[in-house]
Amino acid sequence: MVGGGQLARMTQPAAVALGVRLKVLAASPEESAAQVVNDPVVADEKSLADLRAFAAGCDVLTFDHEHVPPAHLRALEADGVLVRPGSAALLHAQDKGVMRERLTSLGIPCPRWAVVSGPDDVAAFAAGGEVVLKTTRGGYDGKGVWLVSGDTPAEVVAEPFRAGVPVLAEERVDYARELSAVVARSPHGQAVAYPVVESVQRDGICVEVVAPAPGLSSSLAVEAQRLALTVASSLGVVGVLAVELFETTDGRLLVNELAMRPHNSGHWSIDGAVTSQFENHLRAVLDLPLGSPAARAPYTVMVNVLGGDLPEVYPTYRHIMARDPGLKVHWYGKGVRPGRKVGHVTAYGSDLDDLRERTWHAADYIRGDIDE
Ligand SMILES: Nc1ncnc2c1ncn2[C@@H]1O[C@H](COP(=O)(O)OP(=O)(O)O)[C@@H](O)[C@H]1O
Ligand SMILES: [Mg+2]
Repeated sequence: MVGGGQLARMTQPAAVALGVRLKVLAASPEESAAQVVNDPVVADEKSLADLRAFAAGCDVLTFDHEHVPPAHLRALEADGVLVRPGSAALLHAQDKGVMRERLTSLGIPCPRWAVVSGPDDVAAFAAGGEVVLKTTRGGYDGKGVWLVSGDTPAEVVAEPFRAGVPVLAEERVDYARELSAVVARSPHGQAVAYPVVESVQRDGICVEVVAPAPGLSSSLAVEAQRLALTVASSLGVVGVLAVELFETTDGRLLVNELAMRPHNSGHWSIDGAVTSQFENHLRAVLDLPLGSPAARAPYTVMVNVLGGDLPEVYPTYRHIMARDPGLKVHWYGKGVRPGRKVGHVTAYGSDLDDLRERTWHAADYIRGDIDE
């Protein structure tokens, strides 16, 4: 797995259980996953020579992020390396412009969009309304996303263009909530669909996921799963595919973006599903039969722990565990910075209000936001 973040870290227990040796290419020995695998390879994911040397010791290459340059992936494939998902599929998760183009040609519902080359284009596209601007490459956790309107200062509208990559403009969707449809697909075409979840974003960062999305009509749930399975097969995705969706106030689904790796909206599955997204990602990239994505309980709630006022999370660790033995805590071994994802907590059962209260209490307490 190229990338040493928390996604690679959470893949390791699944690899252990499956009897698979997980190798990780990390940027530093302190990275989240480098702490938990044997002999992490510390190398530069943007260097083709480093990638080639790493791939030489692997049966199959997969990723915990989208940052490997597409040309390097094509070069590895030309060398004969098994890259899963392949470069042609992964490009749609690396470049939001390519993603919009392809989904639109497949007839998949998207927000109104255009690739824009400067503030004049933005004003023409906006026609007086609100617009979301996104750098087509390199963004994550809301970095690389701007909401602009006619009142936005000119220097802010100019900001997305400074990165030197194409900029995507989208209508600001009036959504009731955000949903995510996670599927896994193997090379010979077997696929499984997890229950469709609701995900709550704050400042562009996922803070809460509820599985399944409360009150979602079964017709919309099936439509979301079908849509994700269609994207997975049309693009030839191998591994986990997360389709981030908007449920509009008038009851339609629009695709926000795609991720081709384990996704924050699937972390609930570690504790809440028969087979976690991490295990199914490994099974898929190794072309093993996939495991059941079924939920173990009527509801599972996952709340991300973001760095807050406290310089580290461990002083609050004992209290959280003592207060709620049913809570599952997941630490990523990362340094605490305000707003940075440093872990998550999960609870499952049938009383949704109780699950939300417990998970939010834990996350807020760890941040230092409450005294009890
Ligand atoms: N067209 C849009 N209309 C309204 N909100 C949006 C739109 N696009 C993105 N957002 C909000 O910004 C968040 C981050 O955007 P996204 O494209 O998913 O970027 P990232 O790569 O940072 O996850 C979304 O989860 C959503 O809350
Ligand atoms: Mg997103």
